[in-house]
Amino acid sequence: MPELKMRVNGQDVSVQVDPDEMLGYVLRDRLGLIGTKIGCGEGECGACTVLVDGRSVNSCIYPAMKAQGRDVLTIEGLKAGEDGQLHIIQQAFIDCAASQCGYCTPGMIMSAKALLDENPNPTRDEIETGISGNLCRCTGYYQIVEAIQLAARRLAAQRKEESHGG
Ligand code: FES
Ligand code: FES
Repeated sequence: MPELKMRVNGQDVSVQVDPDEMLGYVLRDRLGLIGTKIGCGEGECGACTVLVDGRSVNSCIYPAMKAQGRDVLTIEGLKAGEDGQLHIIQQAFIDCAASQCGYCTPGMIMSAKALLDENPNPTRDEIETGISGNLCRCTGYYQIVEAIQLAARRLAAQRKEESHGG
């Protein structure tokens, strides 16, 4: 089996994978990172979204070997600080009650992260487009969009504080 070397959540990992194995299954089944969910397994629902070199991908259809030498970020890597506090986006999802059954939530949050990294001040339309590949059967999306707006405001405030040395 080929050897896949990549960085996952800031750690170098090396793992034997089947040549046709998809990244989402490697993360879950071989590395134990079960925060990434598999829903449809066909690239339709976004539950399996992770970031590869900062870009969101559907890990259920992303060949694991394509991640060779790349940086992969999963929901487990999305913490703020060493003490394991929740990331601002995660906290905003809690504060806006943007998660119900939670199955879509890791993927939604990773799509939100990719969006806000690229566009820190998105419009409502841009948020809707940013999460258009992520399906949620519970919330009706309203609270999810609110949560991403709240996260954008909090991240902007954090950047401002940091730039003032606070
Ligand atoms: S599980 Fe990957 S898109 Fe649905
Ligand atoms: S919270 Fe249940 S699918 Fe989104």
